Amino acid sequence: MPLNPPGPLSLVPFVSVQHMMQLVVESGVERMLADLAAYIEQDFRRWEQFDKTPRIASHSSAGVIELMPTSDGVTYAFKYVNGHPKNMRSGRQTVTAFGVLADVDTGYPLLLTEMTLLTALRTAATSAVAAKYLAPANSRVMAVIGNGAQCEFQALAFKAICGIDTVRLYDIDSRATAKAVQNLIGSGLTVVPCTSAEQAVEGAQVITTCTADKQYATILSDNMVGTGVHLNAIGGDCPGKTELHRDILLRSEIFVEYPPQTRIEGEIQQLAPEHPVTELWQVITGAATGRADPRQVTLFDSVGFAIEDFSALRYVHDRIKGTALYTPLDLLADPDEPRDLYGMLLRAAA
Ligand SMILES: NC(=O)c1ccc[n+]([C@@H]2O[C@H](COP(=O)([O-])OP(=O)(O)OC[C@H]3O[C@@H](n4cnc5c(N)ncnc54)[C@H](O)[C@@H]3O)[C@@H](O)[C@H]2O)c1
Repeated sequence: MPLNPPGPLSLVPFVSVQHMMQLVVESGVERMLADLAAYIEQDFRRWEQFDKTPRIASHSSAGVIELMPTSDGVTYAFKYVNGHPKNMRSGRQTVTAFGVLADVDTGYPLLLTEMTLLTALRTAATSAVAAKYLAPANSRVMAVIGNGAQCEFQALAFKAICGIDTVRLYDIDSRATAKAVQNLIGSGLTVVPCTSAEQAVEGAQVITTCTADKQYATILSDNMVGTGVHLNAIGGDCPGKTELHRDILLRSEIFVEYPPQTRIEGEIQQLAPEHPVTELWQVITGAATGRADPRQVTLFDSVGFAIEDFSALRYVHDRIKGTALYTPLDLLADPDEPRDLYGMLLRAAA
């Protein structure tokens, strides 16, 4: 079929998984995590400029598919993301994602990109930003419970951004721990595989939980959390899917991304709707206090919010300019005369 080549307005930069991997490798993973953290912090500082809504979730017995939109009035972004803990058993990822950045003025997309890798990177960068403000000073040891896809990204973000030098790993599946140990060889981290969650948290100033299970789980019970610890709970992110025993929440200072979403999805779904929480962006701007006392238990009840994806998309859009790290995708119809969409089709059929 003789087709007109796509016009310049047809083309949208597309970042494939291959291109994203190249971007990460060329940047260096820790450098990229630190750069993403800086973008996230910049956007958290201007939190009030963004449209915000709890993400739109479509739940099934198998998992969840979510859309995460936001806009700062100039640029719009959304991410499509799923969460299917059973996927691993069929060789699939628990979490996959892709996303779009668009120009508010024309509505035209500026970028379409894979976001499975990018979500792991932005989640780890966000966790580390939160810990920078909330973890005890001079934290060196982090426990990571759940050693799946997110695990190494978390470990490296905390090394790059918070100065963690030792990670203590535990997973109910020892093969996941062995995989993470292998992947972190040469990272500069001291890696300690553990045979129980109790063992993993010994001596840790930061405890990250990133397990995947479609239920109210108790990854940490109250007796496992000593004073002065920072909890980075990222795996409890859906109604009916939590990781921490409620008693831990009752003695923690709780920090969240966007309360209307976290109250539905986070650990705090176990608490009364009026239970006090502090928004992380306010800690970053100095409007609210972070860690007030070395003996406090601080909890970042992370569920993942659209503004973090906006920041990550903004970062990728900036980074790919002038590089070959994308493919121009013929995504938008661009007839010679804007109203002659049908004519474009007729000419293609001729
Ligand atoms: N907060 C966020 O922004 C955010 C972003 C991405 C993913 N997540 C969540 O983080 C979690 C982990 O994601 P992933 O991609 O690494 O999943 P994954 O399936 O790759 O890994 C999860 C790991 O948890 C382990 N696990 C399950 N139950 C456990 C238990 N009781 N004790 C110890 N380990 C246990 C599994 O064996 C598996 O290795 C998921 O729940 C996901 O929804 C949150």
